[in-house]
Amino acid sequence: MTNHKKILVTGANGLLGQKVTELFRHETSHELVLTDLHENAFEPKGFDYFPMDITKKEDVKDAVKRLMPDYIINTAAYTNVDGCETDRELSWKVNVDAVKHFIIASRANSAKIIHISTDYVFDGKTGNYDESSKPCPLSYYGKSKLASENALLTSGVDFAIVRTMIIYGTGKNLRPNFAVWLVNMLSEKNRVTIVDDQFGMPTMVDDLGWALVKMVELDKSGIYNICGSEYLSRYEFAVRLAGIFGFNENLIQPIKTADLNQAAARPMNSSFITLKAGSELGLKPLNATEGLQLLKTQLGM
Ligand SMILES: NC(=O)c1ccc[n+]([C@@H]2O[C@H](COP(=O)([O-])OP(=O)(O)OC[C@H]3O[C@@H](n4cnc5c(N)ncnc54)[C@H](OP(=O)(O)O)[C@@H]3O)[C@@H](O)[C@H]2O)c1
Repeated sequence: MTNHKKILVTGANGLLGQKVTELFRHETSHELVLTDLHENAFEPKGFDYFPMDITKKEDVKDAVKRLMPDYIINTAAYTNVDGCETDRELSWKVNVDAVKHFIIASRANSAKIIHISTDYVFDGKTGNYDESSKPCPLSYYGKSKLASENALLTSGVDFAIVRTMIIYGTGKNLRPNFAVWLVNMLSEKNRVTIVDDQFGMPTMVDDLGWALVKMVELDKSGIYNICGSEYLSRYEFAVRLAGIFGFNENLIQPIKTADLNQAAARPMNSSFITLKAGSELGLKPLNATEGLQLLKTQLGM
């Protein structure tokens, strides 16, 4: 493989897809080809873009055969965790079957797949999960993402799986992520109830995108945990955000997960050990304060 690589990015309109595109453009000279379900939402100047439904096996096969990418970075997914409980068939098609389509296409064309997975493959009973911890998903979303991991692990193709959690950041025409939703709500002085019994390590999308650039540069394979450096509850994160953005913290009321009656069960403590990413990629992710300060700057607030 030469230094110049061709990279197909799926989910290019999404939060991570947009950041991956931006970072590869600024940090590398690789050729990017972008795709997502609909027309492009953020005018990726200088890149080829084509819409594709990744659940369509023949379309995936044809695209990979035509483009001959060195890497496929699969950020596309059915990411609505509660929606996965009710829309099981579609979520499985997007989260599992599509990955199998890419595996088949990669076998024929020697593309390496970098796939994004989640802390929701764990039950959250113990936390401190490393790359070899045994998954035990609670939700259909988690089960579908674990099945996608297993498809890759048993595929025989070259792959990397990046597990991450609670991604936040900015982009164009995006559905609001947790942090941006909070900014919208609190800036308009709306009251919010936030769970204080779900703990995790919120991940600034810039760190995750940076790690993916590194993984391509270093040609890494296998499973990697990538997340922010600070462990805190959703409620603590919301209060921190309010402090940094200058919003009224009293608008934030703590609530218990059990009181929310969400369709999907969530892991209560899904903290990651990220020593592998630290030592192999040099990842030094932001803590919540640093990440939220960067978000504030990016939002121009
Ligand atoms: N966000 C988080 O907190 C989080 C946490 C852990 C792991 N992850 C994982 O990280 C990855 C990136 O997440 P994200 O937050 O960037 O997701 P996102 O913003 O929801 O982007 C996902 C993209 O995939 C597209 N997509 C859905 N169905 C498709 C299909 N059939 N064919 C082609 N594209 C399709 C979506 O299009 P539409 O919007 O039009 O449906 C969307 O643009 C996902 O694998 C997710 O599971 C995310």
